[in-house]
Amino acid sequence: MGMGFFYWSAGSMRDTHTGEVMSKAVKTEYVQLKQAVYREYSRSYDEDRKRFVGGQGLAERVDWALGPLTQRARLLDLGCGSGDVIARALELHPDLVAPVGLDLTPEMLALARTRFTHSCGLVQANAHVDSVAGLPLQDRKFNLVTSLNLIHELPRAAIPGLLDEVHRVLNPGGQLQAVIPCMVAENPSSMVFQRMSWERGAMDFLFPSELKDLLNQGTGLTDRKFKLGPSSAASAAAKGETRFKLFSQIMDELREQGLDPQDVTQGVMYFSASRAG
Ligand SMILES: C[S@@+](CC[C@H](N)C(=O)[O-])C[C@H]1O[C@@H](n2cnc3c(N)ncnc32)[C@H](O)[C@@H]1O
Repeated sequence: MGMGFFYWSAGSMRDTHTGEVMSKAVKTEYVQLKQAVYREYSRSYDEDRKRFVGGQGLAERVDWALGPLTQRARLLDLGCGSGDVIARALELHPDLVAPVGLDLTPEMLALARTRFTHSCGLVQANAHVDSVAGLPLQDRKFNLVTSLNLIHELPRAAIPGLLDEVHRVLNPGGQLQAVIPCMVAENPSSMVFQRMSWERGAMDFLFPSELKDLLNQGTGLTDRKFKLGPSSAASAAAKGETRFKLFSQIMDELREQGLDPQDVTQGVMYFSASRAG
């Protein structure tokens, strides 16, 4: 499949992420694009992910997300991808009862499925919830909800709705731990990278202040904490060493426009919050 496929066909999404709820047709288009992107990425996901983030950085993020995990916790991992968070949770607590991973893309869930002999629930669903469709999960079911590299996959207007759903499925006293890639430096290269990532992959890399504003919305969650960390993802994409080409092609186009890809600076936001006990 050529990467040109990844452009939004009608340009209809271009402004939708800043404002109101998506129409049904636009949401269908969003789902199709997202699944096409991750179908392609699933072919090289585990090797490329290490190139983007670095093995050590990846392990640190996973362990931070699982910090509050106990042997008796019920764990939900949103945007579970190939299943690293659940795999690590089972390594830490082999008797963990039925962790659940949720993801939109069948091919990513298929990668996760091959890893787990342990009973583990894998749910195909959209985390871009709306007033009609929430997460297909019971109220107050989980003690820990983790989410690594998912929230930037949603249009920014959808973030508060997802937080409401996380609050609903958390047990009182339960905790959310999310790691969210974001932009850091406001310069022309970063701004073009941000726009192209949205247009080609519906990935909404926000600046930290925008992200914090949205993560402070949504009802119910308390004790919200934020920490900004470094990310090597953009510089790895600029080197063009990954098999997944969406980001390296954006970097090539930046060069063609006379911009320096090395100026694209990304970070990660560590966000935690809890449901009052
Ligand atoms: C960057 S990957 C992260 C996967 C995994 N958490 C990790 O860190 O390796 C993003 C994942 O989110 C999934 N995803 C993207 N948009 C989604 C959505 N709206 N709802 C649920 N999952 C989504 C993709 O299929 C992909 O597996």
